[in-house]
Amino acid sequence: MLYSEKVMDHFRHPRNVGEIENADGVGEVGNPVCGDIMKIYLKIENGIIEDVKFKTFGCGSAIASSSMATELIKGKSVEDALELTNKAVVEALDGLPARKIHCSVLAEDAIKLALLDYYKKNGLEVPEKIKNYKTHEEEEAEAAEAEE
Ligand code: FES
Repeated sequence: MLYSEKVMDHFRHPRNVGEIENADGVGEVGNPVCGDIMKIYLKIENGIIEDVKFKTFGCGSAIASSSMATELIKGKSVEDALELTNKAVVEALDGLPARKIHCSVLAEDAIKLALLDYYKKNGLEVPEKIKNYKTHEEEEAEAAEAEE
């Protein structure tokens, strides 16, 4: 079977779908190759992620990844959320096929960008980890430029 039961479960019954009005942080990323888009909304109180919602216009693995990623950071501190990697998302999903790993990368990127948005909006010092944070999209664009 190509997809784990967990992937199928989160794809069929995604958790935390929707948006948050007046969110404390919003992050949006897209993958230029497949055209999939993911948007993450965070509600943060006293440094804790009280609520998180997502909207994903993308493949099943992107939906499962967003669902799992939001579950993993809900109720956690912003510091903990900063540590979330796409690898952790893939592990929590019991794996993704190799050509679907980029879908989990979207989830990590969208969360990091939403956190960056939160730090900036609140005039907080941006942690080293995301200071120079770029989406993979930007990295690819830069790499492409460098090749020219
Ligand atoms: Fe692009 Fe899944 S195929 S996010």
